[in-house]
Amino acid sequence: MTTFVFPSIESQSEPRTIPTHRVSDVSVNEEIAAAVRDGLASSPRHLPPWLFYDEAGSRLFDEITCRPEYYLTRTERGILTTHADAMIAQAAGDDRLRIIELGAGSADKTRLLLKAAVARQDSVVYEPVDVSPTALDAARQRIESEIAGVTVAPRVMDYTHGGRRALTLDAALEGQRRLVLYIGSSIGNFEPEAARRLLRRVRASLNPGDALLLGVDLVKEEATLLAAYDDFAGVTADFNLNILARLNRELAAEFNLESFEHRAVWNAAESRIEMHLASRIAQTIQIRALKLQVDFAQGETIHTENSYKYAPGQAEAMLDEAGFTPAKTWTDDQRWFNVSLGIAH
Ligand code: AVJ
Repeated sequence: MTTFVFPSIESQSEPRTIPTHRVSDVSVNEEIAAAVRDGLASSPRHLPPWLFYDEAGSRLFDEITCRPEYYLTRTERGILTTHADAMIAQAAGDDRLRIIELGAGSADKTRLLLKAAVARQDSVVYEPVDVSPTALDAARQRIESEIAGVTVAPRVMDYTHGGRRALTLDAALEGQRRLVLYIGSSIGNFEPEAARRLLRRVRASLNPGDALLLGVDLVKEEATLLAAYDDFAGVTADFNLNILARLNRELAAEFNLESFEHRAVWNAAESRIEMHLASRIAQTIQIRALKLQVDFAQGETIHTENSYKYAPGQAEAMLDEAGFTPAKTWTDDQRWFNVSLGIAH
């Protein structure tokens, strides 16, 4: 068994293994409480993006991926549709693959790779890793009923102290290689140093010859980037504001959602889209379960997400630095998105 540990920021829902205690009428998740206390006391104020993904937020995210402005999902799906066979062949070499996916979520695009794996080797073991047992259950049922030959072995992640999760991966058997999928630009939520640490941890859990498939979003025209994070129908705004609704639900907070405004900003110096929530008025917000009150000046913001956009060649450089030989990168006609394969050396 190898131990595989990585930070919790990319989680698709709240951690379930954290002890809770009851304050007045709400049961308070300690990791959420700590993140909120810390983030709202900071200047500028911030909240971690893993807080987006409660049930309502996960639904809103799935809706975002269908918005015409949100090019990421359909562009990556296009790349996978065209190149899944080549990706699987190159990762497998002469061996059989076992496929592991980090932050699997609804695992929609993954089906393209699983079908390619089954076409090549008749059957495949798929280990989706997520913090949400319910998301994993849904993914298992859907995939096993839709793709004959796939055995789904879900892994619910454990949390250890320091907000990190530890996971044990089964050691690869003779004649088997592991392919880890980290697609969907999930890595874009991490600051550069944390992203490097994460990739090094993935590498440490693998053997030479095992592979990592990494999907990253590329820098492009600012208007295109901004529209993707501020869609016309307002779904991204609702997704961002849902973080406040969640604090209302889970921490008995008293945010009036109408009094905050969604903002997407392109930070060119850091090469990232930032999402913020700006207070439309000067106001004081009670967070009853934390016995906390937070004063907002008019226009004061809460920074809720970074979504890094990479230059061509940057994903390959990150793979290389983490101990993977960049084997091949696939892209779309517009060069908007990259899917890169690294082989552990
Ligand atoms: C799930 C982190 C890839 O950064 O594009 C979508 C999340 N935020 N719209 C992204 C998100 C706003 C998404 N990732």
